[in-house]
Amino acid sequence: MDHSWWKALDMDYPIIQAPMAGSTSPEFVAACLDAGILGSLGAGYMTAEGTRAAIREIRNLSDKPFNVNLFVPEKLERDAGVIGEAHRALAPYRKELGLPEEMPDLSESEFSRQVGVVIDERVEVVSFTFGLPDEDTVRRLKDAGAFLIGTATTPEEAVEAERSGMDAVVLQGKEAGGHRGAFIGEDRFLTLRELLAGARLTVPVIAAGGIHDAGTVRAALDAGASAVQVGTALLVTEESGANALHKEAILNSSEGETVITNAFSGKHARGLNNRFIEEMAEAAIAPYPIQNDLTKPIRSAAGKQGKTGLLSLWSGESGWKARRGKVSEIVRRLIGEEE
Ligand SMILES: Cc1cc2nc3c(=O)[nH]c(=O)nc-3n(C[C@H](O)[C@H](O)[C@H](O)COP(=O)(O)O)c2cc1C
Repeated sequence: MDHSWWKALDMDYPIIQAPMAGSTSPEFVAACLDAGILGSLGAGYMTAEGTRAAIREIRNLSDKPFNVNLFVPEKLERDAGVIGEAHRALAPYRKELGLPEEMPDLSESEFSRQVGVVIDERVEVVSFTFGLPDEDTVRRLKDAGAFLIGTATTPEEAVEAERSGMDAVVLQGKEAGGHRGAFIGEDRFLTLRELLAGARLTVPVIAAGGIHDAGTVRAALDAGASAVQVGTALLVTEESGANALHKEAILNSSEGETVITNAFSGKHARGLNNRFIEEMAEAAIAPYPIQNDLTKPIRSAAGKQGKTGLLSLWSGESGWKARRGKVSEIVRRLIGEEE
């Protein structure tokens, strides 16, 4: 396996801080770069200009190369009947939180404008989830010198990612926290171990899902990964931009508390089980990203009112093993210099 790619990106260790949209503040990304791992801005929910501002802030804090992660939009049919039903299913939560009944504005993808921004700003690494960029986008990014990383949840998606021109592919196991990057057919929920065993790629593979200490890093590298991507274990650090309620919920969680749900966004994601997920189990859910738009005011008001039962508390299966500390301390745990 060729390891020169991550050394060329000025990384001391083959470890990537997972992009985590909404929680990857410039200070957090810079702390990860300082600690010798690749920092990632999760720009999925940002506007193009917000993405540019965050990129510039990271550049002010660090001279090292970093990653910007984008959500690849899918073709979307807006069925007014389905959207109306999903909106009505959320009425009890709006009432409980004192929110108006009107439907929130539905978002438009900023993806193509964000691609323009990462090209303009000469971002060194660009990663994708929920799909792959088209040929023209790949060519423009490569012409600008970017190293490209795709996300796959099946061997078929991994092959597709390599074929599309990705320079490396994240294999995201079902253990992983947050949204699943699945984009071909039915979600298959393969474990990281199954994905690593089934990978037939010539480009480097990056393992994601459940990596939280030196043992899990070593196991992934021994199984053929060229690097690992770590989400939950870094989400709870002091520097992370995640909401304090979210960090505490993970740090206080127990084994087996996470579930996969589509109730918050219309897409499968792993998080701590709570009242919203349970009550919405049979409810009408709009497709991604509409459901995400519909639940946004609820999640935001719930955060302000301290109602964790209505928050999306994304966490990987091994979140209960996460430790408190600074990014540098968690990185030392990952490289085996600290228990
Ligand atoms: C809070 C949270 C947000 C996430 N957001 C993104 C994202 O914006 N883009 C992305 O590619 N992956 C995202 N992920 C998934 C991670 O990239 C990664 O697959 C996962 O965190 C690995 O599993 P772990 O949490 O067990 O380390 C997110 C994960 C979490 C926990």
